[in-house]
Amino acid sequence: MLNLMRVSTFQIGFFLAASAGVLAGCRYDPVQAEKIRALPLEDAEGPRPEHRAGQPCVDCHSTYAGAQPQLAIGGTVYWQTAKGYLNGMEGVFVTIQDSAGATYKSCTNSAGNFYITKSDLQGIDDLAFPLFVGVAGVKMNSLIGRERSCAGCHKLASVDRIDRDPNVDPATGRARDSAGAIIVDRDYISSLERCGIANEPSTSTGTGGAGGMAATTASGAGGMAATTASGAGGMAVTTAGAGGATSSATGTGVGGTSAASGAGGNL
Ligand code: HEC
Ligand code: HEC
Repeated sequence: MLNLMRVSTFQIGFFLAASAGVLAGCRYDPVQAEKIRALPLEDAEGPRPEHRAGQPCVDCHSTYAGAQPQLAIGGTVYWQTAKGYLNGMEGVFVTIQDSAGATYKSCTNSAGNFYITKSDLQGIDDLAFPLFVGVAGVKMNSLIGRERSCAGCHKLASVDRIDRDPNVDPATGRARDSAGAIIVDRDYISSLERCGIANEPSTSTGTGGAGGMAATTASGAGGMAATTASGAGGMAVTTAGAGGATSSATGTGVGGTSAASGAGGNL
């Protein structure tokens, strides 16, 4: 099914009404407000760690828009079917290394979403930009200077974008203004880069270097656990969302649960 959608006037009105509370009390920023307004609708299941896959998480989960929890960074990772459809890639590590030497790992949930909350950065005010990132062992060559949403650069295809620029790749969204969806090859993922219920993060012990590694697994639906190891070069592990009860350690069966969610879930 083609999941691209044009945001209608009705949807904009609905979103503004639904988000009026969220935006209240903050100084109005028309550019930011327009960015948020132009996003596709909330998923049918409503806000949850798997929602709004492919969207710029931190546009909303910020002091500006006020969605909780506040995120330091967030995004969505995909795998691509032979026909080119994108599906959320569950159960792989996203590794963020900041300029102060701290390394954070976050595990993608069933929608392929991952995030690090402000409160995961225990005792640290903020990530030290620029950031180095890698997903399932594949490194991004450039650095992140300040953007907190991967989707700020990794924009998916949308009807609007294709209307404006016919060169937008309808499968990945790649174009002049987008690096395209973050896609990993799910057939070639090292066991050290897998995480989630079926493959506890503790299997990564030994990759942490001097700082050592502390890991706690999430308990309860949608639960989140984070432990920050002490010292520079320490490693914090966040296992997001218990939605992945049927996780993907074997590399099979991911598509079933993850295909439907969010914008671009099933392009
Ligand atoms: C258009 C704004 C918007 C975008 C974009 C957005 N969210 Fe949310 N998110 C919300 C709102 C609103 C809530 C409900 C909490 C609130 O009202 O403060 C929420 C809730 C959540 C929660 C808490 C769910 C719970 O069970 O308590 C998580 C985690 C979350 N979002 C993660 C993400 C991630 C990851 C992304 C990006 C892939 C994202 N969000 C994109 C607005 C947004
Ligand atoms: C400032 C823009 C920008 C932001 C923000 C950004 N990326 Fe990228 N990303 C790029 C560009 C451009 C490329 C392609 C060239 C390269 O590898 O640097 C890329 C490539 C990648 C690749 C390599 C993909 C491949 O097919 O080789 C991965 C993995 C990746 N990004 C992950 C992420 C993650 C995860 C985030 C969010 C934490 C993120 N990126 C945020 C611009 C960005």
